[in-house]
Amino acid sequence: MNISVTIEQVEQKYHRYYTGINNALEQRIAKDSPASLYEPVRYILAGKGKRIRPVLTLLACEAVSGSSDNAMDTALAIEILHNFTLVHDDIMDLADLRHGRPTVHKQWDSTAAILAGDVMVAYAYECALNTRTDRHNELVHILNDANITVCEGQAIDMDLEQNKHATIADYIDMIAKKTGRLISASLEAGGIVGNATPEQIDKLIFFGKKIGQAFQVQDDYLDIMAEEGKSGKTPGGDIIKGKKTYLLLRSLELSTGKEKELLQSIIDNNGISPDRVSEIKGIYERCGVLDETRQLINNNTEEALKAIESLPFPEGREYLKGIALKLMKRDF
Ligand code: IPE
Ligand code: IPE
Ligand code: MG
Ligand code: MG
Ligand code: MG
Repeated sequence: MNISVTIEQVEQKYHRYYTGINNALEQRIAKDSPASLYEPVRYILAGKGKRIRPVLTLLACEAVSGSSDNAMDTALAIEILHNFTLVHDDIMDLADLRHGRPTVHKQWDSTAAILAGDVMVAYAYECALNTRTDRHNELVHILNDANITVCEGQAIDMDLEQNKHATIADYIDMIAKKTGRLISASLEAGGIVGNATPEQIDKLIFFGKKIGQAFQVQDDYLDIMAEEGKSGKTPGGDIIKGKKTYLLLRSLELSTGKEKELLQSIIDNNGISPDRVSEIKGIYERCGVLDETRQLINNNTEEALKAIESLPFPEGREYLKGIALKLMKRDF
C-alpha cells in the first residue's frame, strides 16, 4: 500500500496533535469541587493514554475538509467517553493497574470510580455540543450509538467469560462492539464536523471498523506479550481472569496434548493462577498463534488503508494511513 508521507512526518503530526489534545483536556474540566468526584476524573485523564481516538477524529475531519480546526471539541468528547469506558472496564475486569498506576477503583474505591465515569459521560456530551458545527444532532446520535454499542460489547465480554463454548466468531462480534464502534465513531464524528458526504462517512466508518478490530487483537496480544512494564497493565491479566481472547481461542484449536489441556483448564476454571502465565506464554510462542495474530492484524490494516484511498485531502488521508500502520506495529 502506497503512502506519501514518511514515518517521521506521521510521528511529528501525531505528537503535535497528542500535545494539543492533552492541553485542551486539562482545561476542559475546570471544576475541582467536590474533590472526591473531580480528583479521580483528573487522574484518569492525566494518565498516559495514547489519544488515538481523538487524533483519528482530527485527521478524519482534515481528510474530508482540509482542516481540523473545528474538530477539537468533538475529539475531546470522544477521548473523555473512552476514558469513562476504561474506568468502568477496570472495575469489571478487576484490573489493578492502568497507565502504570493503580486503577481509579484501587486508588479510591468503586463508588468513586463509578461516579467519575458517570460524570465523564456528561462532560463528553457537553464537549460535543460545544463543537463549532450545525450538525450537533448527528454528533450526539454518533456518541449515543457508540456508547450503547460499547455497553453491549462489554456485556458480551462479561458473558463470554462464563461461556465455556465461546467461538472465534463470538469474539470477533464482541470486539467489534466493545472497541470497534468507538474507534469508527471517532472517525465518523470527525467526518461530520468536516461536512463529509455520506459516501465519505461510510469509508471512514469502514476504516475505523477494520483498524478497531486490529487494535483490540493487538491489545490482547500485548496483554501477555508486551515487554516488562510497557503495557502499563498487569501482564497476563486476560488469562488470569479467563478472558476469551483471540490468542486463547485460536491456540486451543492449534495446540495438542498436555498444552491443549492446560489451555482448556483456563476455560473450565474461568482463569488461572498468575504464576502460570509464563507457561501459557510459552504455549502461545510454540503453537503458531502469534503468526496468525500478526496476519489478522496486517490483513485488517491493509483493508482499512484501501478503503480511504479516495478521500480528498492528503494532509488528513495519508496521516490516517500512517497512524493505522503505526498502530499495527505498536508495542504498548
Ligand atoms: C484500551 O484502549 C481499551 C481498548 C479498547 C483496547 P487504548 O489502548 O486506546 O487506551 P489508552 O487510552 O491509550 O490508554
Ligand atoms: C477494552 O477491552 C474494552 C473497553 C474499554 C470498552 P479490554 O478490557 O481488553 O481493555 P484493557 O486491556 O483493559 O485496556
Ligand atoms: Mg475489558
Ligand atoms: Mg480491561
Ligand atoms: Mg486488554
